[in-house]
Amino acid sequence: MASNKNLLMLPGDGVGPEVMHEVKRLIDWMAKRRSVSFNISEDLVGGASIDARGTPITEATVEAAKAADAVLFGSVGGPQWDKLGFAMRPEISILTLRKELGLFANLRPAIVLDPLVDASTLKADVVRGLDIMIVRESTGGVYFGEPRGVETLPNGEQRGFNTETYSTHEIERVARVGFDLARKRQNRLCSVEKANVMESGLLWRQVVTALHARDYADVELSHMYADNCAMQLVRNPRQFDVIVTTNLFGDLLSDLASMLTGSLGMLPSATLGAADATGRRHALYEPIHGSAPDIAGKGIANPLAQILSFAMLLRYSFEMDEDATMIERACTAVLASGLRTADVMAAGCAKVGTQVMGEALIREMDKQAA
Ligand code: IPM
Ligand code: MG
Repeated sequence: MASNKNLLMLPGDGVGPEVMHEVKRLIDWMAKRRSVSFNISEDLVGGASIDARGTPITEATVEAAKAADAVLFGSVGGPQWDKLGFAMRPEISILTLRKELGLFANLRPAIVLDPLVDASTLKADVVRGLDIMIVRESTGGVYFGEPRGVETLPNGEQRGFNTETYSTHEIERVARVGFDLARKRQNRLCSVEKANVMESGLLWRQVVTALHARDYADVELSHMYADNCAMQLVRNPRQFDVIVTTNLFGDLLSDLASMLTGSLGMLPSATLGAADATGRRHALYEPIHGSAPDIAGKGIANPLAQILSFAMLLRYSFEMDEDATMIERACTAVLASGLRTADVMAAGCAKVGTQVMGEALIREMDKQAA
């Protein structure tokens, strides 16, 4: 079947290829049952690319990602690559893709599905029904700012330094993504920084406030310091709808938020670039979990975060809302039927591996399509 949907798959390391395999199963099903097809290409990133090509990501792979309509990323990293130099870390691959494709808005949902309400370490009453979206700025801030480095001081001591920088347009474009998402949800946006101690945070607050007054006065806007936000997320997470924040704070707060749900293995993410005149935008989708080297190759990883990342891909890159919703419902249904991978195992449930979970999902898709 010819297709105009060009999809690049980058499974990466550890459990990445195993969970990606279950997405391929789903894609085959979609071709058969929904007559949807994709032009799929696949490439190496992270440690797999270091081993085969001597670099975490090649220029050709970056070019392939730019040419694709959407990139589905697995996960990268593992202990065998930790001893290589800083520039040879598998993590460089994802940072390079974010930067080269201009993927500045990282959408990280934290949703508590009903069947998993007891998987959280917080009380069920605190997290039941939780549905928040963290929008993390992902091409600026202290992870990319210059100057950066390690220098030797006159006294022989070493000094490491990084720089937090944010310009008006960087703040504005990611805030817009936050406001636009809020409008499609509960219409509330909380902007998070440290305006009390950082100049870049003060500018952040001013720019978001001005943009709100100019273009988004209908959205309920609040501001919060990042440390308070961390505390509030644990105290009463349902007070939030959409959170927009910097690269560093978003990295921390999204990990925190993911654990409110009880399983990292369940959460997808999307990272979006700016739309061009035709509405086309670069986009990369990946699970929030890492490569989990400790369980790689055992066939026990939870494939649902990778599958839900694919659902986000359908929704945001191809406007296939109906298919995305079907997949999300099927995930909930599989869990409700009592199947669990080890990471979300609970008393009275049946523990299954990656492949059985993937097959069960397909059966649910069959039911939904019937
Ligand atoms: C994430 C990860 C990355 C980050 C690493 C792998 C570079 O922690 O996506 O949150 O810090 O952005
Ligand atoms: Mg992180």
